[in-house]
Parts: sequence; structure tokens; C-alpha cells
Amino acid sequence: MGWTMRLVAAALFLGLTMVVTRAQVRTSQCASMPVPDEDASFCKGSLEVSYTELENISCKVVPSCNNYREKITSWPPPLVKYPGATESATYMLVMVDPDAPSRSTPLARFWRHWLVTNIAGANMKTGRIQGQELSPYQPPTPPPRTGFHRYQFSIYLLRTQNISLLPQETVSPGAWQLDQFLTRFNLSEPEAATQFMTQHHMDSPPVRAPGGGSVQTPPRGGSSEPQYRPKQASGLALLVCVHIAHHLRSG
Ligand SMILES: *[C@@H]1O[C@H](CO)[C@@H](O)[C@H](O)[C@H]1NC(C)=O
Ligand SMILES: *[C@@H]1O[C@H](CO)[C@@H](O)[C@H](O)[C@H]1NC(C)=O
Ligand SMILES: *[C@@H]1O[C@H](CO)[C@@H](O)[C@H](O)[C@H]1NC(C)=O
Repeated sequence: MGWTMRLVAAALFLGLTMVVTRAQVRTSQCASMPVPDEDASFCKGSLEVSYTELENISCKVVPSCNNYREKITSWPPPLVKYPGATESATYMLVMVDPDAPSRSTPLARFWRHWLVTNIAGANMKTGRIQGQELSPYQPPTPPPRTGFHRYQFSIYLLRTQNISLLPQETVSPGAWQLDQFLTRFNLSEPEAATQFMTQHHMDSPPVRAPGGGSVQTPPRGGSSEPQYRPKQASGLALLVCVHIAHHLRSG
């Protein structure tokens, strides 16, 4: 193998290595961070919540990369999989936002995002939410500058088939008295529950008020979303290219 061939092979190898490294960095940057500890305690029963491009966002913060926080506002309903479901049993899924319009001032708690009853256990196991939809799915659309919202999913084992909303509860999905609703049907503890967090896609995590105070309270870790800086690698690539070009010309 001549010098030229060897150099071309080396260049190809190096290029490939850098592409792989960059892809890995991008993937890890885009990994979902877990929700803060105090919010993780809500998650129980190993629920999986998966959206079109986001696999298992259960107990995680929706990452800002790849425009996920904007995309999630228009994706179809997620898969909500409860592997611990009993096949012959019947379940209800409740999805709410307790942080409407914001976590610091939740005047419209709970915002009802999805309410489906009579889900067959077999479907609950595979994540296909089919049953009687009492409240159609409404994607997470946290308003700008309201900080992170929690989107909570709870799975209840049903002993009664006749669950319904009162007329006054259907007037608006906001300010839903979830406790009263559950009490009406003798439901207390969910069998499984989880939540994910996201905020408006234009909001950057550390927003500081002029006075130095924090306007919003991002989840811990949310403000340190790693930023990949490709400068060094690009510089190296340029150097290698110039080097190889030089050798090719002289060789
Ligand atoms: C999804 O994430 C939740 C919370 O971390 C976990 O309990 C569950 O096992 C995960 N499911 C899968 C299939 O990865
Ligand atoms: C449920 O509602 C239907 C129709 O309203 C009624 O016929 C049935 O008896 C009810 N079942 C129970 C268990 O309450
Ligand atoms: C709830 O429990 C009470 C007392 O045990 C009972 O009287 C009532 O019928 C139950 N309601 C439903 C909807 O199961």
C-alpha cells in the first residue's frame, strides 16, 4: 500500500471516528434527565410513557434538544404501558397537570389532559389506551414563562364500570376537583403512577429576574443541560485535512 493510499485510509478512519464520537455526544446530550428527587417519589409501579420520538419519558424531564418540547405539544397520545396490569382486570387512566397555570400559582389545578375508563388489563399491559374516553387527550402545552409543569399519569384498578364526569366537571378541563371525583367512585390509591416534566420551548432554564431572584424554579439539573461544543474537533479535522492535502500533493 502506497503512502497516498495509507493516508486516504487514515483520513477515512479518522473522519469516521469523529462522526461516531459526535453522534454519541449528541445522543447523550439528548438523554432525558430524571425529575428531581422530590418529584420522583410520585413514580411507582414501573409505568412506561412513550411518545412518537421519545421513548419512556416516565419520571423524566423532556429534553430541550431536537425541539422535543415544541414537538410534544402536537404529538398524538402516548403509549402508557403498565406491565404489572392483571389481564382480566379493568383500569382507568387519569392524566392531569397540577401546575396550571403555574406551579407557584396553581389556580386551575388540576388541568384534565386525558381520562379513559374501562381499559382492559390486556391493553393496559401493552400500553394501548382503549376504553371509554371521558376526556379526550390534550397534549402538554405549558404557557410561556410559567416554568416547568408536571404531567401526571395515574392508573386505577376499577371495580365499578360506571364512572362518569358530572355535567359541571365537563364545562372545562381546568380546576378539576380530582379528589372529589375519585372519592365519588371509592377510588383512593392508584396502582401505578408516574409523571414527566416539560416547559414552554422558548423558555430557557435559568431565567433570572433583574433583582437577582429566580423567576421560575427549574427542576434541579434542568439548568445544566450540557452544550456540545464542536470547535475543538472541527479545528482538528481542518488540521488533518490540510496535512493530508499537503501529503497527497507532495506524494
Ligand atoms: C420506564 O421508566 C420508568 C421510570 O424510570 C421505569 O420504572 C420503567 O421500568 C421504564 N420502562 C421501560 C420499559 O424501560
Ligand atoms: C351502569 O349504568 C347502566 C346504564 O346507566 C346501568 O344499566 C347499570 O346498571 C349500571 N351498572 C352499575 C354496576 O351501576
Ligand atoms: C363506596 O363505598 C361505600 C361504602 O363502602 C358504598 O356505600 C358505595 O356504594 C360505594 N360506591 C361505589 C360507587 O362503589
